[in-house]
Amino acid sequence: MKEHQVKLAILQQLSEGGFHSGETLGESLGVSRAAISKHIQGIQQWGVDIFRVQGKGYQLAQPMELLNEARLRQTLTSPFELIPIIDSTNQYLLDKQQALSSGQVCISEYQAKGRGRRGREWVSPFGANLYLSMYWRLEAGIAAAMGLSLVVGVAIVEALESLGIEGVKLKWPNDLYHNDRKLAGILVEMSGQAGGAANLVIGMGMNLRMSHQTEGIGQPWTSLSDVVSTPFSRNDLVVAFVKAWQQALEDYELKGMQGFVERWNRHDNFMGREVKLIMGSREIKGKVRGIDPTGAVLLETANGIEPFIGGEISLRQAE
Ligand code: ATP
Ligand code: BTN
Repeated sequence: MKEHQVKLAILQQLSEGGFHSGETLGESLGVSRAAISKHIQGIQQWGVDIFRVQGKGYQLAQPMELLNEARLRQTLTSPFELIPIIDSTNQYLLDKQQALSSGQVCISEYQAKGRGRRGREWVSPFGANLYLSMYWRLEAGIAAAMGLSLVVGVAIVEALESLGIEGVKLKWPNDLYHNDRKLAGILVEMSGQAGGAANLVIGMGMNLRMSHQTEGIGQPWTSLSDVVSTPFSRNDLVVAFVKAWQQALEDYELKGMQGFVERWNRHDNFMGREVKLIMGSREIKGKVRGIDPTGAVLLETANGIEPFIGGEISLRQAE
């Protein structure tokens, strides 16, 4: 078995619950107890909390529902690849775009090099969250790409609502928030143009049950398990999100932002609130008035209501 394969097989057994001794794990996987102990350390480096009790063995600190390829294949009509260990699901699809058609999905349990906007890190521990990317060939071309993170954001919030999960909000242009904490981020990347069409990859990372011990995130964040008290399934969420994205992207191709503006504004986390827009060394303060049909954020300043758009803009709550 390859390196990752042994670790994944250990996780498969641990995810069934209870204690598993190094000896029985080793026997079932054909490796020594010492090798199991080394693999456990490697798994911990993927961000999984595992503890060991003398005489009993290893146990996961939190229950873990692994992504289940067979189960996903039964319900998902979109083509997808489940690659448990990956650098970045976005990068994977960007590298493969020549061979893909719109709607191709990549999902993963762990990203070694998950990324956010402008090369920032996206913290991606194993099995706790969702890392989901979709390739899309946008016939309308690159000018329309700015709207994509907005459209996909709306689709996710509405998909959560249809599962009975209320209160998740949108932060322009690419984040999902709950109680002013970041729950998920969306990253749209372009892999080139073919004629007028733009080849795009849309990726989302959503925290589901991330340990509060997780380090390396420089802002307030939350997980879906803090938003809802009822149980939810990672596999069901994947299905719901992929379907919602596919539908939203098809609608966007046909009708552009029409319809999405009102839907975004209903869920805007900062609607009517004082914020600042940071653009390099420039800062503009004002009240958020939603978005316009070009996907720009509308800010009410002393000059009236003005639109702002561009990948370099960051929106922050005003102090
Ligand atoms: P902007 O408004 O410019 O988008 P941002 O801080 O949200 O600002 P992004 O590039 O969108 O920046 O997201 C990356 C940032 O998200 C990281 O710098 C980190 O602060 C935060 N982050 C990283 N991993 C996670 C995670 N798993 N959950 C929540 N936040 C994260
Ligand atoms: C952000 O808030 O800046 C966007 C974060 C996007 C993270 C997702 S996780 C799946 C996909 N693969 C990546 O490397 N990034 C996106």
